[in-house]
Amino acid sequence: MDGRSAARYLPERLSLKSLREAAAHCRGCDLYKAATQTVFGEGPRRARVMFVGEQPGDSEDRLGHPFVGPAGRVLHEAMDRAGIALADAYVTNAVKHFKFELRGKRRIHKTPKTVELRACEPWLGAELAVVKPRVLVPLGATAAKALLGPKFRLLAGRGRPVAGSTLAAVVIPTVHPSSILRAPDSAARHRDMGKFVEDLEAVAAALSNDLASTPPP
Ligand code: URA
Repeated sequence: MDGRSAARYLPERLSLKSLREAAAHCRGCDLYKAATQTVFGEGPRRARVMFVGEQPGDSEDRLGHPFVGPAGRVLHEAMDRAGIALADAYVTNAVKHFKFELRGKRRIHKTPKTVELRACEPWLGAELAVVKPRVLVPLGATAAKALLGPKFRLLAGRGRPVAGSTLAAVVIPTVHPSSILRAPDSAARHRDMGKFVEDLEAVAAALSNDLASTPPP
């Protein structure tokens, strides 16, 4: 059993501000060594929907914000087409540091290992505890593995609520937006984007059903 964990870096009082400040100094695994900075989640504390990606990419690592590179542009376009306002969403990642290998001068994304996902889990758990989203959206296989376990089959379960999850009232996993960027040609890209938007429409429908069923305060 690998003892690496972010748990000892968590602040005593959980708020998005205290978490972000504490996460900036996380040494819970080795990924901080090569990364520029911790990229923590962003969005309103009372966001009703939370999107969880894999880890920051090259642009996110440099700029310090989640989903601000090419995959973020795909996500934002799909959210817009599905009628989900970015300003109403909390957006984060399963792993808060960019993991990469150098090829010449290029930093090439590397999928985080299970021990790194586990080490980083306390941050995601704390974000869930503070934001308490009604609808949770794991983006891609790594986030689905972190949140739903290794047996979850993303391609069979995408776009539909996961039965029995206690993480949020509704959990709807979908693909990672970078998978659309990797489509082999523009026809495939168009088709994959259409399916991604359909999945996010299911998220939008879950949000409006939830709003309709929640009595006013
Ligand atoms: N990919 C992710 O999973 N997260 C980001 O923040 C950017 C790219």
